[in-house]
Amino acid sequence: MSYNLLKGKKGIIFGALDEKSIAWKTALRCHEEGAQIVLTNAPVALRMGEINKLAEAIQAPVIGADVTNMDDLKNLFEAAMQHFGGGIDFILHSVGMSLNVRKGKHYTDIDYAFNQKTLDISSMSLHRVLRTAWDLDALNEWGSVVTLTYIAAQRIFPDYNEMADAKALLESVTRSFGYHYGNRKNVRVNSISQSPTATTAGSGVKGFDGFIKYAEKMSPMGNASGEDCANYCVSMFSDLTRMVTMQNLFHDGGFSFTGVTQAVIEAMEK
Ligand code: NAI
Repeated sequence: MSYNLLKGKKGIIFGALDEKSIAWKTALRCHEEGAQIVLTNAPVALRMGEINKLAEAIQAPVIGADVTNMDDLKNLFEAAMQHFGGGIDFILHSVGMSLNVRKGKHYTDIDYAFNQKTLDISSMSLHRVLRTAWDLDALNEWGSVVTLTYIAAQRIFPDYNEMADAKALLESVTRSFGYHYGNRKNVRVNSISQSPTATTAGSGVKGFDGFIKYAEKMSPMGNASGEDCANYCVSMFSDLTRMVTMQNLFHDGGFSFTGVTQAVIEAMEK
């Protein structure tokens, strides 16, 4: 159902890899709500070709950019502004990758060169994106930027590994840049802390099946789906949330504030 919440708005969406991606679902919902979109992903992800299906469905150009490369980001923003014929109203930063997780390294044995790359891709890339927009004055007054994070930034989930540290840094960049962009142009910057969701990045976490089932049982409303997350992103890009900024917004069916649920007690008593 469309409420035309994003009628006339223009946005860049990072990170739609395949139809399971949170960014993919968000792009579809933003389009339904009347937004014009530019899609972007790393050149290596674009080579998979999946994104072209999405691009066709929502009539969006695809512009490749590695989020760790400032030239790529500058080119992306310039091309997007040219395509839109003006400034940008919203950005979804839906990017994450852990090299140590990929290489099967335990948290107590991480490789620091991999770790630097992980932090650059998963955390400082938000700074790079905002910095590029800032330098080009690409974001319109009352613009909105959302990034995606996980509660492992606040609490220990052992198999989340170095991504816990990456998410803590990402949430800090959200607050810090949110301050400066709010001051300068009333642009808001927030992170959405999403339930475990079965995507390529999500399933990379060791023991993901147990992890997602546990979260389901530990949330009074169950896990929030990727579709629910897309809806939340739409509301954050709309004019209905203009004064929300520098926040980490839990979108998890109540998981973050639950001590225990009846379902978990029953499972323990078995
Ligand atoms: P996904 O695997 O579909 O998306 C991750 C995206 O990051 C991919 O499109 C990938 O190509 C992109 N990416 C990786 N390196 C890049 C680079 N150097 N330059 C540009 N793009 C790059 O998975 P998902 O789950 O949709 O992930 C999106 C975000 O949501 C991530 O930040 C993830 O940590 C976060 N998140 C995911 C949860 C889950 O359980 N799936 C839970 C909470 C947060």
